[in-house]
Amino acid sequence: MLDSLTILGGRSRTGEPEPVGRLDLRVGEVLAVVGPTGSGKTTLVNDLELFADGTTSTGRKVLVDGVPPPSRMRDEPSASPIALITQHTSFLSDLPVGEFLLTHARIRRSPTAAGRVVEETLAFANELTGEPIDARSRMTDLSGGQARALLIADATVVCDTPVVLLDEVENAGIDRARALALLRRHRKAFVFVTHDPHVALLADARLVMKGGAMTALLRADEADRRLAAVAGRMDFALARVREAIRAGERLAGSELEAFA
Ligand SMILES: Nc1ncnc2c1ncn2[C@@H]1O[C@H](COP(=O)(O)OP(=O)(O)O)[C@@H](O)[C@H]1O
Ligand SMILES: [Mg+2]
Repeated sequence: MLDSLTILGGRSRTGEPEPVGRLDLRVGEVLAVVGPTGSGKTTLVNDLELFADGTTSTGRKVLVDGVPPPSRMRDEPSASPIALITQHTSFLSDLPVGEFLLTHARIRRSPTAAGRVVEETLAFANELTGEPIDARSRMTDLSGGQARALLIADATVVCDTPVVLLDEVENAGIDRARALALLRRHRKAFVFVTHDPHVALLADARLVMKGGAMTALLRADEADRRLAAVAGRMDFALARVREAIRAGERLAGSELEAFA
């Protein structure tokens, strides 16, 4: 089982050495990748997924437990300890959810464990989404939030990879704070690209990207921890207000009053 991943810095888009020359990520840690569009966030996540060996456009190198990974990890998808989920990731299946998960669990895990793995995956997904997933519904009929919850649960429980990467996956319909807590409990290293203040503040550190380079690593400080809770309350209040507006209600006396 893998304990850590290391990124050795390469160069920025203009060829300068990256200000952050080395980044260590341990299993159980959560890293948020932040920065404007075009700053190199997706490229960084791809370097991780490919186990860059100095030959990608950035010149970065990825180490596993401190050493270059065996080529098998790079070449055989089923041997990779990394699951990458992007906006474009989908299941490409119209099987019922239960059957799909069972098939996948039999391949990735063992036939005897498959039943238990399916139950655990559904339970995990249902903790992430407010709309419970029925094992009998077709994969293609899942809502956006249900599909994203199932993707994360499938990567975490069925694939059981120690590293999960999320590249700007839309988070509507997903309880993000809950997702982080569950991923921590499953001892995963979790790297996600996000613009969401609440999730970014819940991470152990924020990696700041600019001009294609890793420019700073901000470890979460006392203020981040304190303000994460505030951001969470604001998120919650806004979600409730959105519902109230949708339901045609007036807002006087609503959760928003706390911020008035
Ligand atoms: N270090 C780098 N060296 C060369 N090109 C880079 C580097 N980092 C990013 N790029 C290029 O810059 C463009 C934007 O990067 P991308 O990772 O898509 O940004 P973001 O995901 O933050 O919007 C892409 O074409 C990518 O290939
Ligand atoms: Mg991107």
